[in-house]
Amino acid sequence: MKNYTSKLTSILNIKYPIILAPMYLVTNEKMVVEACEFGATGAIPAMNWSDTELMRKGIQQIKLNTSKPFGINNITHASNPAFEKQLQVCIDEKVGFIITSLGNPEMTIKLCKPLGIKVFCDVVDARHAKRLEQAGADALIAVNNLAGGHAGQLDQKTLIAALKQEVSIPIISAGGVATADLLADVLNLGVDGVSIGTLFIATHECTVSEEYKNAVINHGASDIVMTDRLSGTPCAVINTPYVQSIGTKQNRFEKFLNRNKRLKRLIKQYAYARGMKMLKKAAFSATYQTVWSAGPSIEYIKEVKHVNEILTELTKDIEFSI
Ligand SMILES: Cc1cc2nc3c(=O)[nH]c(=O)nc-3n(C[C@H](O)[C@H](O)[C@H](O)COP(=O)(O)O)c2cc1C
Repeated sequence: MKNYTSKLTSILNIKYPIILAPMYLVTNEKMVVEACEFGATGAIPAMNWSDTELMRKGIQQIKLNTSKPFGINNITHASNPAFEKQLQVCIDEKVGFIITSLGNPEMTIKLCKPLGIKVFCDVVDARHAKRLEQAGADALIAVNNLAGGHAGQLDQKTLIAALKQEVSIPIISAGGVATADLLADVLNLGVDGVSIGTLFIATHECTVSEEYKNAVINHGASDIVMTDRLSGTPCAVINTPYVQSIGTKQNRFEKFLNRNKRLKRLIKQYAYARGMKMLKKAAFSATYQTVWSAGPSIEYIKEVKHVNEILTELTKDIEFSI
């Protein structure tokens, strides 16, 4: 049994510094409750609820089933017109933590910090790390090049080392953790926690279609490609025939619109909404337009499991002290 120290366990008062990662359309209330009751935690993207009242009900549903802290993931940039309303629900419901992605998190930090809501900020490099630490971020989530969803470009080791040079707040690694050995490897790099997504797509608690779960089981790491076509920001997806047919790069017109300063905000919202619609179609029903988001960790997924079965396997040889 190997023992690690983790600041994340003390920040959230949990047993395992593992976040069942926020995944658009994939992470749901039940998965988060399972993770929390195991002694880890979980987070749901606010966008998984179609409006803020459903979001409030979803959060209240989780609270009815676990007293442990859990989080909400907010997209804090122009593509998300509902951002302020979503943030208000997080504040009203006093969630345990917020994960900010794809934008400037300073307003979230400013409003949440005095209330004791922790703020963890997604980063893909060390550029803004110091500023985020100074602004009061409670931890950085280091999204590396093996992550599902909007992956970074740097490998796990390089990214963690670069961040450790810049900041002393906890670093949570996201991307590529799929086995107990891989978890030990990243903890040995001195991070305070991990955020794991892909591994939980093929779970009984997850409500995506059987086709999506089977695709995750039947494909491997070499079937993952990065596409710009969903949101303009590179996103890891399974290279299905449909993905091949539409290509993975934005066309010249889309690129032009994306660069246009005056139209940028509207275009971003439009492009994002269109990409998310594509994902939604494929996530819950059989369609030829199969765009399934997942990371290279699908290599290790061989069957549908329960959330707590996966967490048990991941943590079987490790203990954490504060
Ligand atoms: C299907 C899928 C959807 C995702 N959606 C989001 C999202 O909505 N917001 C976000 O911040 N990260 C999202 N991510 C990234 C995860 O939060 C996490 O960083 C990533 O899954 C970690 O890498 P792993 O998949 O190798 O475990 C998504 C990942 C996947 C696989």
